[in-house]
Amino acid sequence: MIILGIESSCDETAAAVVEDGKRLLSNVVNSQVDIHAQYGGVVPEVAARSHIEVINPVIRQAMSDANVTWDDIDAIAVAHAPGLVGSLLVGVLAARTLAELHQKPLYPVHHVEGHIYANFITEQAKSLRPTLALPSKSPTFPMLALAVSGLHSQLVLFEDHGRYTLLGETLDDAVGEAFDKVARMLGLPYPGGPAIASAALSGNPHAFNFPKAKLKSPYDFSFSGLKTAVLRAIQREVGVDHTFASHELPARLNDRQRADFAASFQFIAVKTLVDATEQAIQEYHPASVVIAGGAAANQELRRQLSERLPFPIDYAPTELCTDNAAMIAALGYYRAQVLPPTPVDQVTVQPSLSMNQTQWSIPSNS
Ligand code: KG4
Ligand code: ZN
Repeated sequence: MIILGIESSCDETAAAVVEDGKRLLSNVVNSQVDIHAQYGGVVPEVAARSHIEVINPVIRQAMSDANVTWDDIDAIAVAHAPGLVGSLLVGVLAARTLAELHQKPLYPVHHVEGHIYANFITEQAKSLRPTLALPSKSPTFPMLALAVSGLHSQLVLFEDHGRYTLLGETLDDAVGEAFDKVARMLGLPYPGGPAIASAALSGNPHAFNFPKAKLKSPYDFSFSGLKTAVLRAIQREVGVDHTFASHELPARLNDRQRADFAASFQFIAVKTLVDATEQAIQEYHPASVVIAGGAAANQELRRQLSERLPFPIDYAPTELCTDNAAMIAALGYYRAQVLPPTPVDQVTVQPSLSMNQTQWSIPSNS
């Protein structure tokens, strides 16, 4: 079954063609990072406008890279939730129009759940470039998933496709968001994740001992206190108090201090995620563990996990961790195995739909 995936929930316009939920035939991502970098973050109006400009060429490119025509496409999957409403609308409207025009079944899917399904992509067409470092096999159930993006930080235990329990989530900022905000304090560019990771390479992760939030559930996260702790430490380091304008702080830092702050922040943010994951493994004994979302590209996260997990872990390539449409097509495939398509005019955007509201497999009788 060949599925065209469409993704436009935030600041990437993406389309991809995936066969049987695992074989990547094409993967086109048009990132708006350069446009938003000048504002230090995503501007929703600008994002929506940019999606409109590029969505048709991106879809055309995905079909042409995959060497398929509309006759070859069995279904369309589109990310309809969660995300920026204006951004989601562009992808959803394109998908609805194409489904109607070409009489294709349409599957709306959840973006964060899609991130997790990037881990099911294990093959790519020989002609497709670049060659990605794909996992050697699909994850097995029960599967523990750590989903960490710019908007979400969640630990989810999947019993099977579409059947899962949300073990915990962030109570305030998502971890990617914390990377973005701390990067800003340090005068590093947007998006903050890759910028902090790269500055941290030359820093000392133990230069500053930032506190780990103590919460009632071991599987919930909180990064807002850590963000404030970094701000206070920067102020102390450069000898100013909280009345000093924070946008003027970066100019007071030298490269050594910047690198040490980046490394110390990254170390504890990642440790927080790894502690929770390790505890969930001990309690639930999953057969596999996957990480997903933009922050899953973080090398320190991969290093700490590999060091502390009781078994080896297969990682999706970073190209499939950040927003893409291959993950949407992969999830669409698995949904299509058990669910009828959604009537085109019932596919609507749901900007704040939680994964908890999207269980979709047919319950087992046991
Ligand atoms: O999944 P994603 O591309 O978009 C959302 O669904 O939010 O995630 C983007 C987030 C941003 O906050 C970015 O700073 C973070 O992922 N990110 C990283 C890294 N690469 C991207 N965070 C930490 N380390 C990275 N290498
Ligand atoms: Zn995402």
